[in-house]
Amino acid sequence: MNQDDQTKCAGCLSQVDHDRNFPDFDLLSPLKIRDVQLKNRIVVSPMCQYSAKEGMANDWHLVHLGSRAIGGAGIVFTEASAVQPQGRITPFDMGIWDDKHIEPLARITDFIHRMGSIAAIQLAHSGRKGSCDAPWKGGESLTLAQGGWQVVAPSPIPFAEANPPPHSLEIKEILEIIKAFEKSALRALQAGYKIIEIHSAHGYLLHEFLSPLSNQRTDAYGGPLENRMRFVCEVAAAIRGVIPSQTPLFVRISATDWVDGGWDLAQSIALAKKLKTLGVDLIDTSSGAIVPKAKIPVGPNFQVPFAAAIRAAADILTGAVGLITETHQANAIITSGEADLVFIGREFLRSPYWALHAEQELNQDPHWPIPYGYAVRRHK
Ligand SMILES: Cc1cc2nc3c(=O)[nH]c(=O)nc-3n(C[C@H](O)[C@H](O)[C@H](O)COP(=O)(O)O)c2cc1C
Repeated sequence: MNQDDQTKCAGCLSQVDHDRNFPDFDLLSPLKIRDVQLKNRIVVSPMCQYSAKEGMANDWHLVHLGSRAIGGAGIVFTEASAVQPQGRITPFDMGIWDDKHIEPLARITDFIHRMGSIAAIQLAHSGRKGSCDAPWKGGESLTLAQGGWQVVAPSPIPFAEANPPPHSLEIKEILEIIKAFEKSALRALQAGYKIIEIHSAHGYLLHEFLSPLSNQRTDAYGGPLENRMRFVCEVAAAIRGVIPSQTPLFVRISATDWVDGGWDLAQSIALAKKLKTLGVDLIDTSSGAIVPKAKIPVGPNFQVPFAAAIRAAADILTGAVGLITETHQANAIITSGEADLVFIGREFLRSPYWALHAEQELNQDPHWPIPYGYAVRRHK
């Protein structure tokens, strides 16, 4: 089956083949999602650098993200970028809560696009997991005197005993955060991003509303599944309402909390179905991190079955992530139809040119950037 034979994904503008077996497709095949053409299925997963001041991107972010665009990834994700200052994990997170953030981000997206990759950004609010020090300084909660802030959550339950109790959001504050996501999406477009992702995973604010472990509200945003899904659905609807129909919208979720009585795959499938009706194109399928002490069977591909199950049950594009490090491992996830994109995190830190090496391993001539190509192909 070739690209032209692909059917249109119902309810969205993505070109996608939902058949389970499509041997003509592999990791290096292009994919069109709405009007955005990806050159391959390889994604640099969003990864916080904790290297910004007042949320501003700088040379580190340009070189870090730019190197991975040179390195051949189809999509290069800018890290979790806070939609409000108090939505940062640390004081060093990337931000997009103010127009001042647009210009340095535009420099980055321009470079990524000149390398033939697609610039994407993850919009985030840290919720009760905010106001912490950088991980390499221990990651402990910061007091107000240390430059921290009052964290917020659905209910006044801290992430861990050592963390201060969060302020339980009032409905008017929830609506302000939805507006902040919407405005941040518009800033992202102004900065040149072609794909927007909502961060609703890893125990941050939107995931905190989804999970009964952190959400004990009795109003319209708590209790039954429909109520717990309300916040992220309202964020998705608000963003879809202001971005062009050509722009893909992704949502990252934790498909399970890995805890009995918590968020799980069945609820994730219900959420994916609902998000699809709201114009979300892809579920980026991660897991865990809502509580400190879950038993997680971490290993190669350990989250891939969630991406496959959501893809099959909700008939939506999915991304697989988590300990995917080898070319043939990543390729098999695509050719088996378990996911449409493969997100690579730490292996892209170790090896910025991962995608070019993958091309080599899959017997394609690597798409070296012009200033490198003639030289690396020469033997003398
Ligand atoms: C340094 C670092 C920063 C991360 N920051 C983010 C982030 O900003 N947003 C997010 O959704 N996940 C974040 N993650 C998780 C990664 O995107 C990815 O899901 C995870 O590392 C598992 O993939 P891997 O095994 O390929 O590294 C981060 C991971 C690392 C290692």
